[in-house]
Amino acid sequence: MQTQQADSQVMMQNDQSIPDRKWWKEAVFYQIYPRSFKDSNGDGVGDIKGIISKLDYIKKLGVDAVWLNPIYASPNYDNGYDISDYQSIMTEFGTMDDFNKMLKGFHDRKIKVIMDLVVNHCSSNHKWFKEARKSRSSKYYNYFHWWPAENGVPPKRISFFDENANGWKYNKETNSYYLHYFAAQQPDLNWENPVLRQEIYKMMRFWLDKGIDGFRMDAIAFISKDIKFPLLPPEYNGNWAHYYANGPFLHDYIKEMNTEVLSKYDVATVAEAEGSVEKVIKFVDPANHELNMAYHFEGVELGYLPNVYKRVDPNGYNLLEFKHIYSKWDSAFSVKGWGTIYLGNHDQPRMLTRWGNDTPEFREVSSKMLTTFILSMRATPYYYFGDELGMNNIKFDKIDDYNDIELLTNYMQVKQKGGDLKRFMEDMKISSRDNGRTPFQWNTSENAGFTTGTPWLKINPNYKYINVESEEADSNSTLNYFKKMVGLRKNNLTLIYGSYHMVDENNPDVYAYTRELNGNRYLVVLNFKPRVSILTVSFKYDHLDLEINNYPDKPRLNDEHELILKPYQSVIYKVSK
Ligand code: NOJ
Repeated sequence: MQTQQADSQVMMQNDQSIPDRKWWKEAVFYQIYPRSFKDSNGDGVGDIKGIISKLDYIKKLGVDAVWLNPIYASPNYDNGYDISDYQSIMTEFGTMDDFNKMLKGFHDRKIKVIMDLVVNHCSSNHKWFKEARKSRSSKYYNYFHWWPAENGVPPKRISFFDENANGWKYNKETNSYYLHYFAAQQPDLNWENPVLRQEIYKMMRFWLDKGIDGFRMDAIAFISKDIKFPLLPPEYNGNWAHYYANGPFLHDYIKEMNTEVLSKYDVATVAEAEGSVEKVIKFVDPANHELNMAYHFEGVELGYLPNVYKRVDPNGYNLLEFKHIYSKWDSAFSVKGWGTIYLGNHDQPRMLTRWGNDTPEFREVSSKMLTTFILSMRATPYYYFGDELGMNNIKFDKIDDYNDIELLTNYMQVKQKGGDLKRFMEDMKISSRDNGRTPFQWNTSENAGFTTGTPWLKINPNYKYINVESEEADSNSTLNYFKKMVGLRKNNLTLIYGSYHMVDENNPDVYAYTRELNGNRYLVVLNFKPRVSILTVSFKYDHLDLEINNYPDKPRLNDEHELILKPYQSVIYKVSK
């Protein structure tokens, strides 16, 4: 088996038949939320030394790269997405020396590291803003967006994280309002100012020169604004993100960033992109010389009720729509650029609760089914830490248990309007971001082996049976399934580059597709329902050889070429003609 694997790796490395091969297309990325990964000093907060102590765990997963959420100095109003010094490390996370050791530790294990680049806004504690807010004549004033108070009240801009939903905040010393799309502690940077842009490029070079392997670009679609701040057109009511994103000079700025910085390094970049296919593709169209990969929101936004804050449709999501969305994005990226695939991250609830089924009966099988999906699509997988264990939403009952600024400010809004707070709390059990941020579950000891102190966010009590130690010992665990699935993807260029075609497209219960390259063909079959479902294999074949299965028993294939699948069953077959 080992030799076979080694052989296929050599073959893969040498395969020149595929145009434009890139390491970041072939990599499986593992996202680490450092605050919740592993605490080394008992303060209840994960840290860099904690990550260093678990490098071998990450290596054993088989992943090729990690994306680290922000680890820069920050007062943590938005857990590191409010940066007060881009070139130093958050005190709670450690020191620059720790960072250097961690980077080396990853690189020694042949794992690449990409970091968050958060440059739509900084922290109100950043030196730039502290100086800017003192006087209109400060050299930093123009690093931010201001509305002079003598011009009256600024045109309405909604903030995503403000209890009054107001995106402008009055600053007395300058008698002007500053813009903040996110919290008031996250003033928006003024990309119109070339001096600011150069500061950012310099900072990027600082990290790239240290040897990091790329950036995940936070809220990048928001950096360019119409600075005349016209009144918002009514058609965008309720969809502010859409209105704010993709401003007039966005692609000029990113092209400039590419020329000045990115083009000089062999790195991976991924845009947190907002908007339609046409808008998102612009970031990654090679002809534009901007970024490498983009992730869209259309998938994770499916299944919410309109005009209510994060209320998931009680009837669940429609699998046909799900299939349509992912197929649409596959086909867009097959022409230009390259996509990503994810179902969970630090801004999402746990994928198992949201997209699978976290009841004891179906927890493991549905988790494995979702893993099979993420690792068999034509796009770079961004797999969120903890999903390999089948972690699920914690579903807090009390508002005091929550930490997330987005949730807390939205709670205040509902409260101020006399809205239904009980309903809000129920909605948050399914959709809130803190569900995806609870500490990682290492073992059965107190606090799941995450910390010896008091964890910054409560730990899911199910750590007693969902944890690394127990799952490593169980050959049938979701953790071991994840490793197997990573191995399967990495040893098959077909699963990475192969063309994608849906099978039995209108099947409302089963998502199935083939992946095909140079005469090799795989069939991926995913039953998304908690019941037996049937797939009609609508193409001609000689044999179907099972490569992976999340059940001990094979699906039954009847004479009508129908596959009978158990609840949430997922299989991948090698197809021979
Ligand atoms: C997107 C990040 O992923 C999220 O966590 C953050 O709150 C906002 N951008 C603001 O930086």
